[in-house]
Amino acid sequence: MDLPIRTVVLLLAISRVLGDCPDGCKCRENKILCQGRSITEFPPSVPGSTTTFYITNTNITALKPDDLTGFAEALGVFLVKDTGIRQVFPGTFDLTHNLGALGFTGTELNDLPEALFQNLLKLESLTLSGNKLLVLRPVWFSSLGALRKLDLSKNLIMSVPEESFRSVAEMEHLTLARNNISRLSRDSFRGLSKLKSLRLNRNSLRQIPEGMLEDLVSLQELSLQDNLITYLPANLFSQTQGLQKLFLSSNRLTSLPQGIFLELPNLAQISLYENRLQSLSPGVFGPMPVIELWLYDNQLTRLVAHTFSNLTQLHLLVLSRNQISFVSPGAFSGLAELGEVSLHTNLLTSLQEGTFQGLPKLVNISLEHNLLHSLPDRLLQGQSLLGQLDLHNNSLRNLPSELLSALTGTKEVLLADNPWRCDQDIVPLRDWLTLHPTKTNLSSVVCLTPTTLNGERIADLTDHDLKLSTMTAVPELATTEKRRKPHTPPPKRTTPSPSAQATPTQEQGEDTSSGQGNGEAVSRNTNIVIIAVVCTAVITSLIIFCVCWRKNKRGSRNLSRRNKNNSVI
Ligand SMILES: *[C@@H]1O[C@H](CO)[C@@H](O)[C@H](O)[C@H]1NC(C)=O
Ligand SMILES: *[C@@H]1O[C@H](CO)[C@@H](O)[C@H](O)[C@H]1NC(C)=O
Ligand SMILES: *[C@@H]1O[C@H](CO)[C@@H](O)[C@H](O)[C@H]1NC(C)=O
Ligand SMILES: *[C@@H]1O[C@H](CO)[C@@H](O)[C@H](O)[C@H]1NC(C)=O
Ligand SMILES: *[C@@H]1O[C@H](CO)[C@@H](O)[C@H](O)[C@H]1NC(C)=O
Ligand SMILES: *[C@@H]1O[C@H](CO)[C@@H](O)[C@H](O)[C@H]1NC(C)=O
Repeated sequence: MDLPIRTVVLLLAISRVLGDCPDGCKCRENKILCQGRSITEFPPSVPGSTTTFYITNTNITALKPDDLTGFAEALGVFLVKDTGIRQVFPGTFDLTHNLGALGFTGTELNDLPEALFQNLLKLESLTLSGNKLLVLRPVWFSSLGALRKLDLSKNLIMSVPEESFRSVAEMEHLTLARNNISRLSRDSFRGLSKLKSLRLNRNSLRQIPEGMLEDLVSLQELSLQDNLITYLPANLFSQTQGLQKLFLSSNRLTSLPQGIFLELPNLAQISLYENRLQSLSPGVFGPMPVIELWLYDNQLTRLVAHTFSNLTQLHLLVLSRNQISFVSPGAFSGLAELGEVSLHTNLLTSLQEGTFQGLPKLVNISLEHNLLHSLPDRLLQGQSLLGQLDLHNNSLRNLPSELLSALTGTKEVLLADNPWRCDQDIVPLRDWLTLHPTKTNLSSVVCLTPTTLNGERIADLTDHDLKLSTMTAVPELATTEKRRKPHTPPPKRTTPSPSAQATPTQEQGEDTSSGQGNGEAVSRNTNIVIIAVVCTAVITSLIIFCVCWRKNKRGSRNLSRRNKNNSVI
């Protein structure tokens, strides 16, 4: 019965024009489509059996009672679309008492006669969308006892008077979206006990009066997004327990009162993004089958424990683009189904160990664009399904090895744009990168400090590089760096780790066939001391000395960690 588009297309396809079809129109069975700017007057001599009449894109400017009298009795559907109609005279629909669907969309109408619809006792659908209506007159609807669907969207209506819909108690769908409504009263929607959906989005609402939804006991969908609402009464939803969809995004809500969503056991969709929410607390969300919760673009600063505990079916929680600097370890407690949490673009400097605990289904965590300077060892313990961890653009200097080992099963870990500090402690990260080169873009994980390694890919760092940087990191030894730098061979050959094989030093091949040994390190230190004291001309004899001395020492083993310590001393 209601929408036209499909039927219009169907009618457009009619090629055969029947005998008594009006000029410029197309007819099939008892349906007529009149289309075209050349039509400036309502077509005369419309067959009396016409049940469906469409007018689109014509230059007709007014409708009067005479226009419809010839076929009023049979008419079931009448729709005027994209036509410059400015006026509908009183009485136009007085004889069309079988009309089930009536629509004016995309016209120039800014008002309608008060009694225009008085005889339309069977009207089920009234569409008055996309016109220039300035006021909503409750009297229009006073006889529409059968009306189920009313669309008043895209007009210039500024308020909804009290009890506007008192007579249309059967109404199920009411759309007032995209007007300029700034005022609603507690009694605007009185009597609409069968209303399933109410759309008030894209208006200029600043407040929702207490008790406004009191009679809407069948409400399933409420659209309030794109308004200027700053506050919602705590008991607004006390009678709407069947609510399934609630849209509140793009408003100016600064807080949500305690208890507001506690009694909505059927709510499966809620949008709250683009508001000014500064806090959320336990006691806001009751048990509800919400799968996704979008809270981005608010002003949240803290996430306290148990805020979301009742949302046990939540799969996605989006908290990005807030000002969150604190996440309580229990903030996500209860979210056993959570697959993705987005916390990017906040002010986090650290996270606590238990933050993601008890979230066994977590796959994606986004933490990019924060100020995280370190992460706890066990942050991701038990996260066996982890797929993507985004840490790029933070203040991380390192990652602990326990955390890295929890990333073994991931698909992707984003680490770019962090001030990685490439000293000896970066080894676990370097080794992880080397072991899992496909999980991250190796070119984007580069050292910031020390300056000597600035811009170097961490995955490419040799132990030798790190050793140098570790030494230079100690201020007292800063001066020795300059001296040591030109003499890279001696330190290199003593590199005590498997990656030593990648270091192409001649001496190494000769000396370390049996693996790494403490003797090498001792010799290296000796070398350093000697080099610092004696001039480079002595090097040749020194090597000879070394080789001899090491031969004596070969076989003695020790921990490579000792070497490090020795070398710093
Ligand atoms: C129909 O109206 C449009 C705009 O109002 C005008 O430009 C056009 O000339 C009219 N066409 C006819 C056939 O009257
Ligand atoms: C909306 O209504 C306000 C008054 O409430 C008015 O100032 C404003 O111009 C209206 N906007 C439009 C687009 O009509
Ligand atoms: C969970 O919902 C119940 C109501 O069923 C409420 O009493 C309780 O405060 C809610 N818990 C949290 C943490 O919001
Ligand atoms: C995780 O992110 C990937 C890629 O963005 C996406 O395809 C996948 O559906 C996400 N998984 C979950 C459980 O959200
Ligand atoms: C990094 O994050 C900050 C916010 O923490 C943001 O202002 C900045 O634009 C981001 N930089 C890049 C390169 O994305
Ligand atoms: C890897 O990172 C580098 C440096 O940030 C960048 O230039 C390059 O485009 C990235 N490659 C891919 C495949 O993203």
